[in-house]
Amino acid sequence: KPIVLSGAQPSGQLTIGNYLGALRQWDNMQDDYDCLYCIVDLHAITVRQEPAALRSASLDSLALYLACGIDPKRSAVFMQSHVPEHSQLAWVLNCYTQFGELSRMTQFKDKSERHNNNVNAGLFTYPVLMAADILLYQANQIPVGHDQKQHLELARDVATRFNATHGDTFVVPEPFIPTVAARVMSLQDPTKKMSKSDENPWNFVGLLEDPKMISKKFKKAMTDSEDPPRVHFDLENKPGVANLLSILSGVTGKPIAALEAEYEGKMYGHLKGDVADAVIALLEPVQRTFSELRADLPSLQSVMREGAQKARQRAAATLAKVNDAVGFVLP
Ligand code: AQP
Repeated sequence: KPIVLSGAQPSGQLTIGNYLGALRQWDNMQDDYDCLYCIVDLHAITVRQEPAALRSASLDSLALYLACGIDPKRSAVFMQSHVPEHSQLAWVLNCYTQFGELSRMTQFKDKSERHNNNVNAGLFTYPVLMAADILLYQANQIPVGHDQKQHLELARDVATRFNATHGDTFVVPEPFIPTVAARVMSLQDPTKKMSKSDENPWNFVGLLEDPKMISKKFKKAMTDSEDPPRVHFDLENKPGVANLLSILSGVTGKPIAALEAEYEGKMYGHLKGDVADAVIALLEPVQRTFSELRADLPSLQSVMREGAQKARQRAAATLAKVNDAVGFVLP
């Protein structure tokens, strides 16, 4: 089976963006692929985290992965920091990545503006750690949202460069980008993507949020002042309405065109109410399962330990190959 790896940062509560752009695909891929799903805590500390909050968000993420259908029997589910090979390979790959390449990463530009009091080296080399995450497992397919496409391109370039220098060492990974709701946008500023670490909580909907709050957030979502109001998918001129349509389409599976027809002549409030109801219904079983799983710490620990063990075996094999290829004396 082709190998798939993906992960999310425990830098806040996972959002419906993470769900529609990533987690849902992860679940669907488990039958046909050999899947590894990690909680990328090493990535999360590129932005300052409060230690207790990071620990708690990491366990929440683990329970949410499981509640969203990730099955630890079929897939390896683990904390990135439990597999030290990620950091070790990242160091080697740092030495095969150019400063100029990293300077062009739009996420770095964006995050270094947002966190301009802490533009640390980890934030800059984040894509190299991500390349290590992927290349360690010789992954063939990487399910990512549009926002991570550039990072995946870099991972491909680094793998190709390393292979050209030292002979075939890494599988060059392919992106796997879902077409529907691949990019969920912020509710208040629909020209930027929804992010779990956004300081304005009205911009995102977390997977664990209370239904009443979810309704309020959608009700308050930014739309536009077209007169008369028209529910129509136009990313450029009507990004708020387009976002609501694409969330609704992502959740219900109905094509955007069918939704446009359904809402012809209706007010935005109608659409907002329906999007909220659809999201609440989607999250209801997820939240219920989450509560049970999160209350059972020993079970979560055994899932993450087993996952790390499975992952480490594979990671160690690649790292040994890399160490040998670059000329380190093997122990
Ligand atoms: N808004 C989004 N729409 C679709 N997909 C998204 N993803 C993230 N945001 C959206 C996808 O979720 C996976 C995990 O992402 P991540 O947590 O590792 O990092 P991120 O992309 O930086 O996500 P956030 O929520 O924006 O986190 P913060 O706020 O900490 O930076 C990825 O596959 C991503 O594509």
